[in-house]
Amino acid sequence: MSGDRRAGRDWLALRSSADTAARDRGAGDLPRRLAQDSWATGGRRLVLVDLGAGTGANRRYLAPRLPVRQRWVSVDRDADHLREEDHPGAELVGAEVEDLGTLLAGLVLEDDDRLVLTCSALLDVLTDGELTVLADETARHDAAGLFSLSVTGELELTPGHPDDHLLRAAFDDHQRRDARPGPDAPGRLARLLRDRGRETCE
Ligand SMILES: C[S@@+](CC[C@H](N)C(=O)[O-])C[C@H]1O[C@@H](n2cnc3c(N)ncnc32)[C@H](O)[C@@H]1O
Repeated sequence: MSGDRRAGRDWLALRSSADTAARDRGAGDLPRRLAQDSWATGGRRLVLVDLGAGTGANRRYLAPRLPVRQRWVSVDRDADHLREEDHPGAELVGAEVEDLGTLLAGLVLEDDDRLVLTCSALLDVLTDGELTVLADETARHDAAGLFSLSVTGELELTPGHPDDHLLRAAFDDHQRRDARPGPDAPGRLARLLRDRGRETCE
């Protein structure tokens, strides 16, 4: 959601179980890879900055699947989402993705910390400028990135209906509002990261 469209707490709660199933299907291997990366770099503590954290679903999924020391920073433009009860023990930061440079400049890390930029269900609502900030900051801080649950333009409705293409087209238009990449955002970010010398897997 962006602009005047808020991702309400009730809406985030409604989609939670479907999101968890989708994470299991599509992102199940990513925490293992991230943990291996951490082990490979000496069992360092992961400092995970969760962008567009909402009510904390990304962290609830990832934290128990990462058998490493962790520190979490939950970031969202909507202060109403940043409640201690949803983000226990995390640092709470009300900020926009475009403020990421300032946020990271103020983040005090210990010598052996490994910075991870992560988000779920966010990439497809970002603008080109925000995706560029994300790629720039990932590269600048030599951070790992774990970005999941993005709309990629594949939408299947069950049960199907002959008019489904109308809904698909309307959804696609909405995603691409104000020249956003929408469903192209994951691929766009991957390219921006590779342009900056980062290795990506999709
Ligand atoms: C679809 S919700 C996903 C929330 C959570 N990550 C999850 O997986 O349930 C998107 C969240 O990103 C936040 N958001 C959207 N655009 C943002 C931006 N440019 N900067 C910071 N937060 C943003 C919204 O307020 C919302 O909480």
